[in-house]
Amino acid sequence: MSSIQSRLLGLALAAAAAASLAGAANAQAAAPSGQAVFESRCKACHEPPVERAPGREQLAQRPQGDIERALTSGIMAPMAQGLTPADIHAVAAYLSSVGAEPPRAAAPSGREMPQIAVRTGPIGTDPMCAAHPPIKAMPGDWATTGIDDASRRFQRHPGLTAADLPRLKLKWAFSMTGGGQPTVVGDWLFITNRSGKFYALDARTGCVHWTVNDLVSRTAPIVIHSPIAPSGWLTIVSESDRIVRAFDAQTGHEVWRSKQLESHPISVLTGSPIVAGDKLLVPISSIEEAAAMSKAYSCCTFRGSLAALDLATGKLLWKTFVIDEPARVIREKEGGAKVQGPAGAAIWSAPSIDRKRGLVYVVTGDSYTDVETTGDDSIFAIEIATGKVRWHRQVTEHDNFVMGCGPASASGNCPTPLGPDYDFGATPILMKLATGKDVVLAGQKSGMVYGLDADSGALLWKTAVGVGSALGGVEWGMGADDRKLYVPISDLGGLFARPGHPANGKPGLYALNPASGAFVWQAPAPDAPCHYASDKDRPSRCFRSISSAPAITPGLVFDGGLDGWFRVWDSATGKVVWEYSTTAQTYDTVNGIKGQPGGGIDGLPVTVAHGMVYLVSGNNGAARVGSNGVNVLLAFSVDGK
Ligand code: HEC
Repeated sequence: MSSIQSRLLGLALAAAAAASLAGAANAQAAAPSGQAVFESRCKACHEPPVERAPGREQLAQRPQGDIERALTSGIMAPMAQGLTPADIHAVAAYLSSVGAEPPRAAAPSGREMPQIAVRTGPIGTDPMCAAHPPIKAMPGDWATTGIDDASRRFQRHPGLTAADLPRLKLKWAFSMTGGGQPTVVGDWLFITNRSGKFYALDARTGCVHWTVNDLVSRTAPIVIHSPIAPSGWLTIVSESDRIVRAFDAQTGHEVWRSKQLESHPISVLTGSPIVAGDKLLVPISSIEEAAAMSKAYSCCTFRGSLAALDLATGKLLWKTFVIDEPARVIREKEGGAKVQGPAGAAIWSAPSIDRKRGLVYVVTGDSYTDVETTGDDSIFAIEIATGKVRWHRQVTEHDNFVMGCGPASASGNCPTPLGPDYDFGATPILMKLATGKDVVLAGQKSGMVYGLDADSGALLWKTAVGVGSALGGVEWGMGADDRKLYVPISDLGGLFARPGHPANGKPGLYALNPASGAFVWQAPAPDAPCHYASDKDRPSRCFRSISSAPAITPGLVFDGGLDGWFRVWDSATGKVVWEYSTTAQTYDTVNGIKGQPGGGIDGLPVTVAHGMVYLVSGNNGAARVGSNGVNVLLAFSVDGK
């Protein structure tokens, strides 16, 4: 299993990395104290929480097994290097107030489906479908993260119109921790999550066709027709721990798995892979920014890259680093740790494909050190056939940033001056203008949106849509139809006045003319009552920010806010035509949870297909702001039919 593989590899790397990570745990002790492990290895980032890290109360809401998975095969595995299984168990037990998971029930008899598990979430039971009808493609499938090569998130055949919105009703709800973006083909829905379950569900009822366990991911499953899957349908996901896996979409049986695509121990796969002909393009990212908070850490050596795999076998064909020279030692710190660079330029989000030019577009994050590089905060056009960079445009220079830097920082890893942390986190969009010219559209955490010439990468225009902050500006994604670009703005950092900074944030949804960058309309996020349960006593934590990526249909834009409100805007005028507070009630989920709350909406939460709207509320891990520890996948249909 991958988690064992990755654990072994993790141990091999631990020799090098453990010494460099924060504080040694007293692994020898007979019964490790969870509190001691927490205080020596976790507290620095989780109490009070840094950036996206969940705080103590959010960790408490997570099942113990989820925390253990985060530390063994999930995103926190690098932070747990050198800890024994007993330490991990102890710290998870110490943090979780939900408790241990109940024992897994056996797979239903009579069918050979070894990967099926029958429970999820805190204390639920997954309802197995009585039948598993063959997957059948339909017009209006949403089978890859951005729905098409150009990543416009534009569903041309949604199966519902504005007139249906008043009759939208919740049909079913499904609880899970850290749910990603659902994809839908025919009556099948596919979703990964960060607690280690990859599900195929019945899109109409939420019953379970199959589950792959121990697969921690936040990518949207690709579903494609392919002869290499016995059923003819293949589904592909990137696992956080740096491998890509392909399964038969009908059975959940594995077809292939890639080698680990990056040897850097603190790298992760966050952006969804995307298919281009016979290749699969996989963006590679990292959380070295967080590791750099530790004085013992030799910051930083990760370089963002894009890998191309053979779609039929998972074999690596090429890998292109967006920072071309490897890190070199700049200085030694007291105690022997070193400062190194250049590093950074993680590729957080999914790429877009330009078949006409044979190009793949990716956008990059910030630099981690003050060693000069031009690969960070950039848009890249890379040749799909060769991996060669066709053009590259950096939009922010010297954005050198790691976490935990400030007057009190003692890590010795802080770049000077510290950059603004203006990564690109949103997939670039390709659009054809009325003139026939193709434009690449990129939205940055700075709040700036750029239009580039697809042939040359020349900057055609830029528009300051938001004021920007480390959590957006534009954070997770934009959308477009044939005429307009739709830009959600978070501006979380600009919501409150600070010394020297007025509260000038402009959270909301904005429509731009893709030819000029001019505003077509501006729709500030409404100030709505906050129903977010855990924060009732702290309304100041209920943010109006719109940080997540939208879904577009003819005439409509669907998106949600960190305050838990889900809205639909008229795409001609920017008027809100439907809204629903996902936190105003709790949900009895089909997997047996009673009273499941919703939370803030973030990440890539919305998919519209076949007359239904799928939304993940409480996107834990996307941002710690306004989110519950557990997510709920909500499925709406007209009249609840
Ligand atoms: C150097 C900082 C740092 C340290 C040390 C650290 N964490 Fe984290 N942790 C983070 C950040 C940042 C995130 C959010 C990552 C993201 O969402 O991209 C996070 C996320 C998590 C999550 C949620 C994972 C998920 O998949 O949603 C858990 C659980 C967690 N940490 C537990 C721990 C425990 C237990 C320890 C100690 C053994 C620990 N962390 C040490 C920074 C840290």
